[in-house]
Amino acid sequence: MTPIGNPDLTVNFAGIELKNPIIAASGTFGYGIEFEDIVHLDRLGGFVVKGLSKEPMTGNPPPRLYETAAGMLNAIGLQNIGAPAFLTEKLPALREKKNVVVFANVFGYTRADYEQTIEILNQGEGIAAYEINVSCPNTAHGGIQFGSDPHLLEEVVRTAKRVSTRPVIVKLSPNVTSIAQMAHVAQEAGADAISLVNTFLAMAIDPETRRPRIAHVTAGLSGPAIKPIALRMVYDAAHAVKIPVIGIGGISTPADVVEFMLAGASAVQVGTASYFDPVATETLVEELADYCREHRIERLSDLTGGLLTD
Ligand SMILES: Cc1cc2nc3c(=O)[nH]c(=O)nc-3n(C[C@H](O)[C@H](O)[C@H](O)COP(=O)(O)O)c2cc1C
Repeated sequence: MTPIGNPDLTVNFAGIELKNPIIAASGTFGYGIEFEDIVHLDRLGGFVVKGLSKEPMTGNPPPRLYETAAGMLNAIGLQNIGAPAFLTEKLPALREKKNVVVFANVFGYTRADYEQTIEILNQGEGIAAYEINVSCPNTAHGGIQFGSDPHLLEEVVRTAKRVSTRPVIVKLSPNVTSIAQMAHVAQEAGADAISLVNTFLAMAIDPETRRPRIAHVTAGLSGPAIKPIALRMVYDAAHAVKIPVIGIGGISTPADVVEFMLAGASAVQVGTASYFDPVATETLVEELADYCREHRIERLSDLTGGLLTD
């Protein structure tokens, strides 16, 4: 086939236009600014900063990372500098950069935590949207994850929407029985978009020492190992809602991006790939443009939901 000229890689969701669908995933790209010497931040669709809480957090004791056969286990424990420090120490430098799209990931252990963190972040300029991480234990409800219980999910999304001055993307937990149900609950509670998946609860044991590989014992699995499951969940979620879906899970190649878009994603996030290769996100943008030229895809966004099943 004859390659085409310049494919249109732009995507739109929740009133936000991105120059391409590649977004660096939360927790794998710091606060973005740390990558500025190795990645042209303005060439990415955008990036999601490390999960922010209202106060700084130190996270879990080491070891916190372990490489598995086809993925990675992490139990970082949501270590972060806190929303106030993000506004004063990171956001001003990001704002100076032209054409950079910043998403702020938010988490908490109570509904009030989410509310207060969002209220702090509302005061900063230069954030495109909030991504609400609901894969956190709700300490007021015996540690059940917000994202694993439809009622808790509904409450936290309504709270976020009530206080937020920006679009709210709800990042769903994959550790649920019905992702379609959770996607629908998020939509009905007012989410502007959903992103999925976060990491899968998992663990690894050292048979010699008989100890867990991760000090926290259980951890979150990410990377190539989760891709087929994440893809199925994006497909199920996309069929359950009308709001845009952002696909996440083991994405590292243009073909991965196309698969997630065909399953229903409007954009994608790239996480663990940045651990194997710190410039993976920018490389993927370049490779995606080449892929579209070679496959004569003129407008990438046309692929969203285009899976052929007959
Ligand atoms: C080390 C590490 C830290 C992470 N921290 C966060 C976080 O703070 N907030 C969040 O919503 N997701 C976090 N995630 C989940 C990723 O954003 C992503 O959803 C997940 O890793 C699946 O994508 P991947 O297979 O491309 O890595 C983290 C993942 C890793 C590997």
